[in-house]
Amino acid sequence: MCGIVGYIGDKEATSVLIEGLSKLEYRGYDSAGIAVYDNGGVHVRKYKGRLNVLAEHLKQETLTGVVGIGHTRWATHGEPSDRNAHPHTNVAGNIAVIHNGIIENYMKIKEWLIEEKGIEFKSETDTEIIAHLVDHYYEGDLLAAVNKAIEKMEGAYAIGVICKDEPDKIVAVRKDSPLIVGLGEGENFIASDIPALLKYTKQMYLIENDEVVLLTKDGVTIFNELGQQMDREIFHVTWDAEAAEKEGYEHFMIKEIHEQPKGIQETLLRRLDKDNNIVLDGIKLTKEDLENINKVYIVACGTAYHAGLVGRFAIEKFAKIPVEVDVASEFRYRDPFVDDKTLFIAISQSGETLDTLAALREAKRKGARILSVVNVVGSSVARESDDVFYTWAGPEIAVASTKAYTTQLIAMYLIALHMANTKGTLEREGYENIISDLKLMPEKVQKILDDYTKIQHLADAQFNNESVFFMGRGVDVNVAHEGSLKLKEISYINSFAIAAGELKHGTIALIDDGTLVIALATQDRLYEKMLSNIQEVRARGAYVVGVAKEGNTEMEKTADIVLYIPDVMDELSPILSVIPLQLVSYYIAVARGCDVDKPKNLAKSVTVE
Ligand code: AGP
Repeated sequence: MCGIVGYIGDKEATSVLIEGLSKLEYRGYDSAGIAVYDNGGVHVRKYKGRLNVLAEHLKQETLTGVVGIGHTRWATHGEPSDRNAHPHTNVAGNIAVIHNGIIENYMKIKEWLIEEKGIEFKSETDTEIIAHLVDHYYEGDLLAAVNKAIEKMEGAYAIGVICKDEPDKIVAVRKDSPLIVGLGEGENFIASDIPALLKYTKQMYLIENDEVVLLTKDGVTIFNELGQQMDREIFHVTWDAEAAEKEGYEHFMIKEIHEQPKGIQETLLRRLDKDNNIVLDGIKLTKEDLENINKVYIVACGTAYHAGLVGRFAIEKFAKIPVEVDVASEFRYRDPFVDDKTLFIAISQSGETLDTLAALREAKRKGARILSVVNVVGSSVARESDDVFYTWAGPEIAVASTKAYTTQLIAMYLIALHMANTKGTLEREGYENIISDLKLMPEKVQKILDDYTKIQHLADAQFNNESVFFMGRGVDVNVAHEGSLKLKEISYINSFAIAAGELKHGTIALIDDGTLVIALATQDRLYEKMLSNIQEVRARGAYVVGVAKEGNTEMEKTADIVLYIPDVMDELSPILSVIPLQLVSYYIAVARGCDVDKPKNLAKSVTVE
């Protein structure tokens, strides 16, 4: 997701745009730019890097003028660079566009513009086609030209457009990406989100889907898709800027936990065609390539490593390929068996974790094929890989990874299924069943999130524990490790994850009266054994929180409380079973008064060894 902002009035547009963009950096921050109507022309300043890079340039390359648009980018098409930064312009440079979203048919339009109009594109972005389309239809009426252009566009977009020949207007459009209008005295604004405008106004119009907006300094007109003028009640904002960045959530972490249905949907659905075939545009692994592979490593750190553990389970289950998983900091120093028959899968939210990057470089030096699963477009890990799977979770601000993790799981399932289909190790019926269950994940995750208050009450009762055990069997152990990391890194509780079958080999000596044990039991074929493990620890005084599939109510006879997840096939349960663990960790940390978004001693991206 990106941030857009626009201004028309009597103030210096540049300062309003930079101020607005500074409140939208949580939406994206790999590059930023503005376009201002100044001295008879539209002038663009745009640079790779955080907003302050643009702001520094503007101190020398000043733009004066009272109409402008601005953008802070989270790259989806085209890596972060000056030329891929927004705004984008037509060839003549007299129409400028900013855009948040994805134009799904941009390649078809781009090919037409190149072949039919001989356009030479300046960027790799989907957005640039909008500027050329508006130009193509422009005959002296910007609003009409934009309306014609959007008729050709498919996908999600919130756009802002200015034009040299009509410097007294901004035209904006909303389709599936957020857009608001700020109302002032002799000035008006557009933005992706309320925080951008709170310094100037708390009177907003919330623009609805498929609406087009015409702004002048003295008025705002809203049109529906039929061109009919729409009335709109003024929305009076009652919260402050900082709360608004979190869209009303107390912390970025809980906001990002609740963004998971959308992240899973974005990551999954744009990689399935109408026949449910997987389309991995960033992965060129062929059948021959896979047949040449005799070893697969998944290497990562922290939460990404835990996603790799589930990835191993999925690849071995579906593609019948043996996989080794390693933490990056160990992989490099154990002289791993790597050659040109090795597939090295790096998982990294930031794409900048030095341990992971160093391990990748070591594997590459030894001839391995490098596939990475990354959330940040154009990051170092992505750039140094042969194939990249972007998770499209959007910027993850909280140090504790949540939405990146579940989208990494989706990535690993899709990669495993892609391998299975390529190798022919999965019957079509079995494949279709898995895909149809995957497509239900967003709504099933949402169902768990909707029931968060039960978990909040549990956390309020249990937050004083100084040690917590997570246990499970099969793939539940991998999720137990992720739950344990979540809890320890934001609540500072000494938590621990263990394969439940290992309890009797030592760890059970630590179980005392009141010890909090979180027991995952989502695997049907291991359910009875988990019930026995729960009885073992309860007999020694543990307080047991069970995590089970809806319908498995027998657990209520043994656990003290059961957190249910919607029914799901065993293989896909990690996508759901991690959600209660994220919520438990979050609410315990809140109850302990911890700095949830910025835990002590931790950084969002560990770019040191
Ligand atoms: C996860 O909650 C932690 N913040 C940390 O373990 C993180 O997953 C790890 O540092 C890897 O980061 P990356 O995914 O950006 O490579």
